[in-house]
Parts: sequence; structure tokens; C-alpha cells
Amino acid sequence: MPVVRGKQIEVLYSASAIAQRNLELAKEIAARDYHDLLVISVLKGSFIFAADLIRAMHDAGISPEVEFIMISSYGAGQTSGEIRVLRDIDNAVAGRDLILIDDILESGKTLKYTRDLMLSRGARSVSVVVLLDKHSRRQAAVEADFVGFECPDHFVVGYGMDVAHAFRELPFVGIVTGDA
Ligand code: IMP
Ligand code: MG
Repeated sequence: MPVVRGKQIEVLYSASAIAQRNLELAKEIAARDYHDLLVISVLKGSFIFAADLIRAMHDAGISPEVEFIMISSYGAGQTSGEIRVLRDIDNAVAGRDLILIDDILESGKTLKYTRDLMLSRGARSVSVVVLLDKHSRRQAAVEADFVGFECPDHFVVGYGMDVAHAFRELPFVGIVTGDA
């Protein structure tokens, strides 16, 4: 079991399993009839997933524009709080097909807020792709159009995701199981 920062990490999704799934997701996205596609990476947690997925999209023959939005709904801990836009996108979205890229869909509050914001700005469509879906935790009325993996109800780290700002650099997704 990998040990990072003195903690044992149980690997849930390996780097190769994620890479394989990203190719499949990109093909699913390519099979849709999107026009003038703009993908929006929801920072910070999605930055590694987005970087890998847009290159898989290139391999699948799609050429999207890429934007970034930073939404805050969580503090340094693990509880959901107030939702705010910390850093907005620069592009107009009216009439365009958008895909929001996020790491995890949990309560759904973050993605529902972001999707509704983009629809209120006149986006033609707003789809959602997430690496992980913690379906059992859903509170808001939002579903992902593309899901990498159905995730068990554990707090996960790695591949962009953090606990208290740590572990984002891990190339896999795992669970902190205890001290090494
Ligand atoms: P929600 O869907 O609004 O509850 O929030 C989802 C966001 O919370 C994700 O984009 C992550 O940034 C964060 N999050 C939720 N669950 C986890 C987890 O298990 N590990 C790390 N971040 C998480
Ligand atoms: Mg996030």
C-alpha cells in the first residue's frame, strides 16, 4: 500500500484504470452531437481529470475550447457550506454547448449551482462529466451525463482531489486508511 505524508493510502482507482476510462468517456462524448463545444473545468479538484480528459477528447476527434471556473462550497474540512464563484470564466456562453468537468458529484450542490448559472447566461446546453459519482450522497436535483466510476461512500483523495489541501498530486484515487 502506498505511503504518502506518513499515511497509508488504499488505491481505489489506479492510474491505468483511470486512463482507460478517460478514453471511453471521450468516445462517449464524441458520439454526441455537440456544436461549438466549450468545456469548463471546475477548479480546483478537476484539474488533473480535465487535463487528461481533454487530451483523450483530442484522440477521439473533438476540438473543444477550454475554460476554468473556481467554485467554493467547502472549507478546509469536509462539510458543505455556502456556494460562491471565486473565479469566473472569461468567455460568453450564450448559444453554446457546454460540458462541465468535475472530479466528484456528491451532494450535487456545486454542479447544480454552476449548471443553473450557465443556463441563466443562455448556454444552449449544459452537460456534466464527472470522474466519480457518489450517488448515495445526492441532495440537489442534478445527474451527470458521463460518469467515470460509481464511487463508494468514502472520502477519497488523489488525482486532483484533496483533504485539507494535501494529496492532490497522487496519480491514482485512494482512501487514507491510517498512519503508516
Ligand atoms: P457537492 O457535489 O456539491 O457535494 O460537492 C462536490 C465537490 O466536493 C467535489 O467537486 C469535490 O471538490 C468535493 N468533494 C466531495 N467529495 C469529496 C471527496 O471524497 N474527496 C475530495 N473532495 C470531495
Ligand atoms: Mg470540486
